[in-house]
Amino acid sequence: MSDQIEIIRPDDWHLHLRDGAMLKAVAPISAALFGRAIIMPNLVAPVRTLENLRAYRGRIEAALPEGSTFKPLMTLYLTETTDPTDVTEGAASGELTALKLYPAGATTNSDVDVKDMTRVHTVLEAMQEAGVPLLVHGEVNDPDVDIFDREVVFIERVLAPLHRYFPALRIVMEHITTEEGVAFVSESDENIAATITPQHLLINRSDIFRGGIRPHFYCLPIAKRENHRLALRKVATSGSPKFFLGTDSAPHPLGSKECACGCAGIFNAPVTLPYLAQVFEEEGALDKLEAFTSLNGSTFYRLPVNEDRIVLRRTPPNETIFQPIDAGAEGRVVVFRTEKPLNWSVAKA
Ligand code: DOR
Ligand code: ZN
Repeated sequence: MSDQIEIIRPDDWHLHLRDGAMLKAVAPISAALFGRAIIMPNLVAPVRTLENLRAYRGRIEAALPEGSTFKPLMTLYLTETTDPTDVTEGAASGELTALKLYPAGATTNSDVDVKDMTRVHTVLEAMQEAGVPLLVHGEVNDPDVDIFDREVVFIERVLAPLHRYFPALRIVMEHITTEEGVAFVSESDENIAATITPQHLLINRSDIFRGGIRPHFYCLPIAKRENHRLALRKVATSGSPKFFLGTDSAPHPLGSKECACGCAGIFNAPVTLPYLAQVFEEEGALDKLEAFTSLNGSTFYRLPVNEDRIVLRRTPPNETIFQPIDAGAEGRVVVFRTEKPLNWSVAKA
């Protein structure tokens, strides 16, 4: 059993960095560990235009430590008014990596959501043409659909028809949580891929209610039954190039999580890599960790792999990595942890 593993520096293909004091607190954490990250555009005022994107990238760069080589890969929030020329221009200049589709009604600014997919056909055509991937939050937001079924219904109602209509559009099904999601992606052609979060490899829906309600295990898509967690573990550790790491690290101030109506989102950036080493070891697949964290995503996004490496080491459980982080005026952010001791850490990043 190896006590140490050296891998090409990982990338995070799905990350929420927020803005303001929160951005300043969390950006250095991801930047110390990951080479690049796909930056989600769901700010309070979403990143909707190339102009918004450039300004946000500037704020991210300003929040990085001196000398950091971390590269934010920027995205736009797809709306019914997205300008196709932003896609063409952003793709040509390399400033735009992808667009994100959230289910209608997902945000408070619901005027920005896509209610009718036909209204974004010209944008999708421009994306297909320019090879710009569409990242989907794969859940319907229909109150009549049970929260645990929303991913499966999304595949039937939205994703499968979209892929049939735009077969050359490259689509990432973000943070998949079900056997059906695994099957859809596995059986589709090379234009469909998926990200997987660490929490969906570690917790199932019962864990959210184990001994009481646990707000820090609440994220969307919500964790599903154990059979789904096992399917995700199997495919993540399989080496299949269609599946790669997207942490979905999504910081919320402690007070917005521990309250009567807590926000969805799990902050996992500091512990993702140790937890993944643990999961891959448990599955007897430490040799596949590098593909999941550092190779498969680059291949899908047609980007070179990172040039430097990091070292993960088996260590006695280390409590310090679970300390809440201080986000200044925003308050503190609780770091994801499970009950099981975590016996890996990042030795060199
Ligand atoms: O749990 C989640 N948190 N799911 C999302 O889709 C959004 C994210 C956030 O921004 O907090
Ligand atoms: Zn997310």
